[in-house]
Amino acid sequence: MTDEELNNLIGQTDLVSLVSKYVSLEKKGKNYMGCCPFHNEKTPSFVVSPEKGIFNCFGCHKGGNALTFIREIENIETRDAIIKLCEFNGVEYKDSVPKKNNVNSNYYKLMNTAKDFYKLYLNSDKAGVEALKYLESRGIKKNILEEFEIGLSPSNGDTIHQVLLKQGFLELDMADMSLIDKNDKGYYDLFNSRIMFPIKDENGNTIAFSARIFNNPDKSQPKYINSRETKLFIKNETLFNLHLAKKFINKTHRVILHEGQMDVIAAYKAGLGEAVCSLGTAFSINQANKLRRYTDNVVICYDGDQAGINASIKAIKVFKNAGFKVHLVLLPAKMDPDEYVLKYGEEEYVKYFESHIIDDIEYQYQVLFLNKNLADRDVLDNLRLELFKLIFSLESSILEEQYLSRLSKDLDVSIDAVRRDYDKYVSTHARNNAYENYDYPVEVVPPQVEPVKKRTRNYTNLAEIQIFVYAIQSKYLAKLIDSRIMNSLQVLSQEYFNIWDTLINSYYANFDVFDQGKFMQLLDVNTMDSFVELIDEINKYPCECNEAELDKCIKKFNSLADDYDNRKMQKRFQESSDEDRVVMLQKMFDNKKKQDKKKHNDAGRKS
Ligand code: UTP
Ligand code: MN
Repeated sequence: MTDEELNNLIGQTDLVSLVSKYVSLEKKGKNYMGCCPFHNEKTPSFVVSPEKGIFNCFGCHKGGNALTFIREIENIETRDAIIKLCEFNGVEYKDSVPKKNNVNSNYYKLMNTAKDFYKLYLNSDKAGVEALKYLESRGIKKNILEEFEIGLSPSNGDTIHQVLLKQGFLELDMADMSLIDKNDKGYYDLFNSRIMFPIKDENGNTIAFSARIFNNPDKSQPKYINSRETKLFIKNETLFNLHLAKKFINKTHRVILHEGQMDVIAAYKAGLGEAVCSLGTAFSINQANKLRRYTDNVVICYDGDQAGINASIKAIKVFKNAGFKVHLVLLPAKMDPDEYVLKYGEEEYVKYFESHIIDDIEYQYQVLFLNKNLADRDVLDNLRLELFKLIFSLESSILEEQYLSRLSKDLDVSIDAVRRDYDKYVSTHARNNAYENYDYPVEVVPPQVEPVKKRTRNYTNLAEIQIFVYAIQSKYLAKLIDSRIMNSLQVLSQEYFNIWDTLINSYYANFDVFDQGKFMQLLDVNTMDSFVELIDEINKYPCECNEAELDKCIKKFNSLADDYDNRKMQKRFQESSDEDRVVMLQKMFDNKKKQDKKKHNDAGRKS
């Protein structure tokens, strides 16, 4: 099927009736709404636009066209989704696998052959005896060797190269897949004398290896060598064990994130098969988005040392940005899951794990107290500020209250004293650094919506969009902006003005945190259509949120209002009677003077 044929197929699909097979939709203005099938929600924030042929969820930000929808909801490959789309439209599927797959299928075969060879080598060669002994000492038994298809790379430096050559594979492909490399003497194997853990994609295809040293006393050698990034192996999108974890996630409705593959294997042995980990890279938003297709619940269980804690805090933010409910388990005595299982056994591990799951705020609160000498005034001072910062970021006043009283107990001081300090912190430190206190998205999630060619622009200037971008990030920012642009709101179109007014005066009067689903309940049909457009714009606008940018945006917005006033006045001037013109002329003149003075002052302040 050519691209053009595919586009036609997508274009002719009745998206509303396709989606209705999975979601109950209700017509709202031009669009249809329902509860998002990709995440759990009670109030609808999932919108289908039949006009544009796209869907979009304002809760989890999933969006796309008919093809994306089938692929995501059925959790299938693009090719299978195309077949299903043909069926839905009563169109015959014409073969021709997309070209890309043809190229990659060679790579898959190559990697699969390498994996089979490493596996065979571990289990048949004398060299395997020592490796098997090592694996056994780490608690890895036969069934786990089988399930994870663990292998061993030979030591002579030119084995996988020769083996794959005999099988008819190309050296260029082997190099492309990061199995061999070339120097002036020719090709050589990249993995030597290491235990080989195949890394698989979510469909179970081997796409890379993580190779552990086991018999080399040379401490300068890295413990693990992972394949380089290749066409198949994109590190920040890959999760070890996802292909096996899938079915566990479906049952337990959660995913567990560990730091290393040995931890994932240990958890798997213990029955916690929904465990995955990234591969020598920090956990990324792309990985979070990938997991989001299976669940919106995560339990992070990294190593219990300081590095593990720091990495956990980063991972919390990434998951939050992807719309996850986040929980964590902190292991005792700086252990990792693998060490815990080896020391106390699988049953004890599961017991500890399940009984120590805490939410992200609780975790951050607890770890701040770890290894701190509270008798030291500087330490205490610093801790207090960190705790206040955390408490200030809380989404509800009830929680804020609870943590303040908790803090008074933990520090053994009166609640009044804590509150006085906290108020001081809020009025000085926090307000000045409001930008720091908000957890800005770590990376901007690219919207998955296909570009729409024709659009009706409801705005004339980016500043009009920007104020919304900032305002939905925090109530504090929203109120701050509102107080500074209050006299310029006439710039907005009627619909955008309604949205702004509802946001500031109705929504934030009742809620502290912006939730698109809840907000949309407050809008009437016409405003909602504009809001859908607006959100489209917001998603496209990469928000660089810092004080300078915000200031620039507010200034720009206010200057639009000046222009606008003058333009409106001129128009009225042309249309009005002679007496009125005199009055107006006077007003316009005043306006101009005010602006000039302001410009003059601004310029003065800058220099
Ligand atoms: P750790 O150093 O915590 O190793 O690295 P581990 O998982 O406890 O490994 P064992 O128990 O000693 O075998 C965590 C992860 O970081 C990556 C690996 O993916 C590892 O699983 N890593 C670690 C590397 O990529 N290279 C290294 O040299 C070390
Ligand atoms: Mn370990």
